[in-house]
Amino acid sequence: MIFLKTEEEIELLRENNILVSQTLAEVGRHIKPGVTTKQLDKIVEDFIRSHGATPAFLGYQGYPASACISVNEQVVHGIPSDDIVLKSGDIVSVDVGTFMKGFVGDSAYTFAVGEIADDVRQLLEVTKEALYRGTAQAKAGNRVGDISAAVQDYAESFGYGVVRELEGHGLGRKMHEDPGVPNYGLRGRGPLLKEGMVICIEPMITMGNRAVVFERDGWTVRTRDRKPAAHFEFAVAIRKDGPDVLTDFGIIEQ
Ligand code: MF3
Ligand code: CO
Repeated sequence: MIFLKTEEEIELLRENNILVSQTLAEVGRHIKPGVTTKQLDKIVEDFIRSHGATPAFLGYQGYPASACISVNEQVVHGIPSDDIVLKSGDIVSVDVGTFMKGFVGDSAYTFAVGEIADDVRQLLEVTKEALYRGTAQAKAGNRVGDISAAVQDYAESFGYGVVRELEGHGLGRKMHEDPGVPNYGLRGRGPLLKEGMVICIEPMITMGNRAVVFERDGWTVRTRDRKPAAHFEFAVAIRKDGPDVLTDFGIIEQ
């Protein structure tokens, strides 16, 4: 069941996703060689709570932390750990959720640690651009498949893999609402996009083969070939005249 949001509800979703953006910006300031992903998780939790919200991921289906922090070959849902120490050349995807005023915020950004290789830099840029290309299709009258195909076509044109096992989703009072938003698919197919829908688009793109493995910790998803993967996510409200992006990467990139 797809819930259409009122203007007031969209503004509450925007408030949440701006707080997520600010949290990601705060984390970004602390990402450097030598920091552990557990330390970054603490920053996320403290920042969210000090702004009057609750970390939406903590306890979600038993998830044990406030952020998902996924390094290099980890695609998504990496569990923060004292044993994971960032080093120059790593990439780190930080996925953050908030709950405030009855609604959820959910966005992710992949950061570079120190100096990264040119081919890894390109993976980050292409994954983010794939998100933007998908987002450009997020308007009333289009279909979910228009978003999916735009993401897939762009990422695959660089020879990258598009992860199939996980997808974007509707966002509202719950973190995962209908519809599912795959990162691969066919133009003109899938659910019709309507004014007032709010969705998260979140390409997970691999430098090598698209196959992934689910680790035995019950959460971490990594590439089978252990090549790096990137993940960017933001929330978008569907409007008649086009996408209304509720997350602000500008805050992170300043
Ligand atoms: N941000 C993730 C998503 O978009 C959810 C994180 S899983 C959790 O689906 F368990 F950590 F919440
Ligand atoms: Co999400």
